[in-house]
Amino acid sequence: MTVSEEGVVKRDGKSTVVVLGASGDLAQRKLGPALFHLLSSKTLPDLCSFIGFARSDYTNDQFRVFLREGVQGANDSDWGAFAERTSYFQGSSTDVSALTRLDHLIARNCPDGLTDDRIYHLALKPSLYPETLLALAESGSLEESTGSRRVVIEKPFGTSYDTARELNHLIHSILNEDQVYRIDHYLGKDTVQNILVFRFANTIFEPIWNRNYIDHVQISVLEDLGVEGRGEYYDTSGVLRDMIQSHLMQLMALVAMEPPASSTPDALRDEKSKVLSAVRSIDETTVEVHSARGQYTGYLDEDGVDPASQTATYGVIKLFIDNWRWQGVPFVLRSGKALKRKATEIAIEFKRPPQAIFGVAGDAMPNRLNISIEPDEGVHLEFVNKTPGSGVQLASESLEFHFPGGTIRDAYERLLLDAIEGDASHFNRSDEIEHSWKIIDQFIEGWINGKQPLLRSYQPGSAGPPEAEHLLGEGRRWLLGDEN
Ligand SMILES: NC(=O)c1ccc[n+]([C@@H]2O[C@H](COP(=O)([O-])OP(=O)(O)OC[C@H]3O[C@@H](n4cnc5c(N)ncnc54)[C@H](OP(=O)(O)O)[C@@H]3O)[C@@H](O)[C@H]2O)c1
Repeated sequence: MTVSEEGVVKRDGKSTVVVLGASGDLAQRKLGPALFHLLSSKTLPDLCSFIGFARSDYTNDQFRVFLREGVQGANDSDWGAFAERTSYFQGSSTDVSALTRLDHLIARNCPDGLTDDRIYHLALKPSLYPETLLALAESGSLEESTGSRRVVIEKPFGTSYDTARELNHLIHSILNEDQVYRIDHYLGKDTVQNILVFRFANTIFEPIWNRNYIDHVQISVLEDLGVEGRGEYYDTSGVLRDMIQSHLMQLMALVAMEPPASSTPDALRDEKSKVLSAVRSIDETTVEVHSARGQYTGYLDEDGVDPASQTATYGVIKLFIDNWRWQGVPFVLRSGKALKRKATEIAIEFKRPPQAIFGVAGDAMPNRLNISIEPDEGVHLEFVNKTPGSGVQLASESLEFHFPGGTIRDAYERLLLDAIEGDASHFNRSDEIEHSWKIIDQFIEGWINGKQPLLRSYQPGSAGPPEAEHLLGEGRRWLLGDEN
């Protein structure tokens, strides 16, 4: 261990981040910029290097130019420092001999006496994961005799419970769970990590965070864009697999989990896993009363989309968690494309006062807590006040906190740093993923095989199919902003 002038403790090792699939969109738009910013903000260990790996025929310089196109406003000196540590290795991720050569090259470049710590980041299409993982293992790249070996795996992880389980099996045959970093980039967002701090670093919310005080919870991830050239992928995925199984399910787990006994990655993930495993099962006969779905007009004309496609671009599911804390409280998860606005928010509506002593006006305004993830990055607590003047007129007001502009780091920066430092808290464990697929599979089964509920069409730029709001139950409405 060494301590830098800034007092930061650093390990005496060399870290190498290998991006497999480095000539792709994710590498250029997210991973390159994240690594560049981590390096230029001096957050990374002193000895750190990055290797792009893909089949394209790039020289080192051409690869650096490709990466620079994805980075906004890099000055020459910072870029030079990053470029010096960045190189390219041509090969296929399924070719054992190419991976063996890469393994030897990295080992040779690790100074004597230092640990040779590595991250292999799979920025590949998911169908390549199994063969790539096996090839990495066969090439010896995952052996930990000279340093740590961690593998970062991008979303989507599986397309169903069975496929996710199969992939987990394969992974566990070659890696320990603590070497595996399954990314859901939502977990790297400050606003999402703040849910834990908000809940467990304050005492005032915990006593009311249960079925006695909370009426229902709405979790919305709304997008204003359509499929934007990703029609071929999206048409086989749809809103359940693309958004709800991953991002929305994770947000629900963070809102609903019990307090972990400590802040270790496993204590945190144990509680998320437990709450996901307590979600009530539904069956074909009840899928209709627990979900709604829609498809935007014009979706069938998108490139790569089957003109007869029944894929939902909008979906709502209503879940109940069968434990002491949440019995009877609906969690309504909603996501869609081509909607009126782009916003991600968790809205918690509290129960109305037991007696409406101020009359109907007060009765109609329950307290609400909105945890806004994006584009608003903050927390709003709505409460009822008297308006000035004679008589008693009531109005709902809001106490608000917003993260200061420009202070939020990109989720990939945080997650890559965590992976380099070996902190898996904000990555999915195998059991969490399997529980959430089990929940989603029931809806997929009902929607696709049972053909219910009806696939309703909605206009791009609208709030989605109006019928979906019925799912909330009588007297409730969508709580996200101006779309009602
Ligand atoms: N793009 C995003 O914003 C985003 C967001 C979340 C998750 N993801 C996930 O990240 C992964 C990558 O997505 P992407 O959008 O970057 O895809 P992409 O643009 O298609 O890039 C994938 C790259 O993989 C390389 N590749 C293909 N076969 C290979 C092989 N056998 N060996 C080595 N490299 C190979 C390709 O480059 P060569 O032809 O040069 O080999 C290609 O550039 C996917 O799993 C995706 O679901 C992406």
